[in-house]
Amino acid sequence: MNRRTILKATIAAGMVPFGQTRGGRQEDAEGSPMIYLDNAATSFPKPEAVYRAIETTLRSGLANPWQGPYRFSAQAQKLMEGARKRLDEVFGGEGPERWIHTFNGTDSLSMAIEGVLKQRDHVVTTDLEHNSVTRPINALERAGVITQTVVTSNGNVVDPDAIRKALKKKTALVAITQASNLTGLIQPIDEVAAIVREAGALLLVDAAQSAGQVAINLSETPIDLLALSGHKMLFGPTGTGALYVGPRADVRPWRKGETGGEGSEETPLQPEDLPYRLEGGTPNILGIAGLDAGVAWVAKRGPDRIRRQLVKLLRPVVDWAEEAGWRVVGRWAEDDCVGVLSLVPKGRGVKAVTQALDRRHRIATRPGMHEAVPANQRLGTAPEGTVRISPGPFTTAEEIGSLVEALKSIAGDRA
Ligand SMILES: Cc1ncc(COP(=O)(O)O)c(C=O)c1O
Repeated sequence: MNRRTILKATIAAGMVPFGQTRGGRQEDAEGSPMIYLDNAATSFPKPEAVYRAIETTLRSGLANPWQGPYRFSAQAQKLMEGARKRLDEVFGGEGPERWIHTFNGTDSLSMAIEGVLKQRDHVVTTDLEHNSVTRPINALERAGVITQTVVTSNGNVVDPDAIRKALKKKTALVAITQASNLTGLIQPIDEVAAIVREAGALLLVDAAQSAGQVAINLSETPIDLLALSGHKMLFGPTGTGALYVGPRADVRPWRKGETGGEGSEETPLQPEDLPYRLEGGTPNILGIAGLDAGVAWVAKRGPDRIRRQLVKLLRPVVDWAEEAGWRVVGRWAEDDCVGVLSLVPKGRGVKAVTQALDRRHRIATRPGMHEAVPANQRLGTAPEGTVRISPGPFTTAEEIGSLVEALKSIAGDRA
């Protein structure tokens, strides 16, 4: 049986393989070649080591880590703790127990925001934030729990001085993204961190788009809460994420229930100690196995090398867009961005372009505001948003060449 027949049989049996990889080439569920350029949403394909780690765990050790005393359970717990240790080493944290396994970036951010804010606290945030920062903060404001100041970046880069000016005596938290998921622009986190630490507030950094592309060293940059998405440029599968909780942050449990560590037996309560204070329920052991392999892969390659590779891939698209009169959104520059590029097509709708790319050219890109409404408003791209292009480290220059040819042909439809 050839590969296509196997795939067809798999689909007929009701099992839909999401995507297959052969070298750098990807195929969709029907076995058609596909160029995947939506890595800012979730990375695909993953490094081979990630697939291997997940398969090995699934076949040989998928147990609940809290149920012991049998070997498989201890193995699962070891895997979880090993992943915390690696995160701590790679990001320079103050101890593996400070790394909470979460289910995605949104989960990490909600855990931090809902866990530290109290009645009458003031929060400083920016107009660059993703909905997973904006929505929980807006909800707390609407409920009358907190007040907030939204610092404007005009959609590009936040001025650290504007953060300084927004700080008040009762500012408990500053929440800021490290890289915009709309423009790719990297924010001056080191400067912001120094200002926030001096003022005595907590700093929450949303590293969903930056982790894996921008080096983060917690022992040098005073970040109290670092929210990671595991399935983007850390290459874990979907359903993975992590939150780093620094010693100054006291985070109330976001979910409560079955966990490791010692809880009170008389009145069952969540354990006080990290990490178990903030974890609950059977963990995503499979996902954590994949995430750990992904983080090891990133650490070996180096985040800056990955970022440079991605922005270099995007360069010909930027050059073509500028020549064709399509708008490159934000002050995009190779040295200043992660591997994300947003375009506004000339004379064509954003959705029409992404649909044509998908249907006619089998190229996956993302239309819309990318959950970053205020940034789109500032940049004048609301409500239609942009065509977002985000390659991964397995994207080839030939694939980008095919994208440029496809864009030329789509642009030519109206020429
Ligand atoms: C800047 C930013 N923050 C947070 C998130 C949420 O991450 P997740 O999709 O893992 O929940 C995303 C996702 O795209 C993002 O781009």
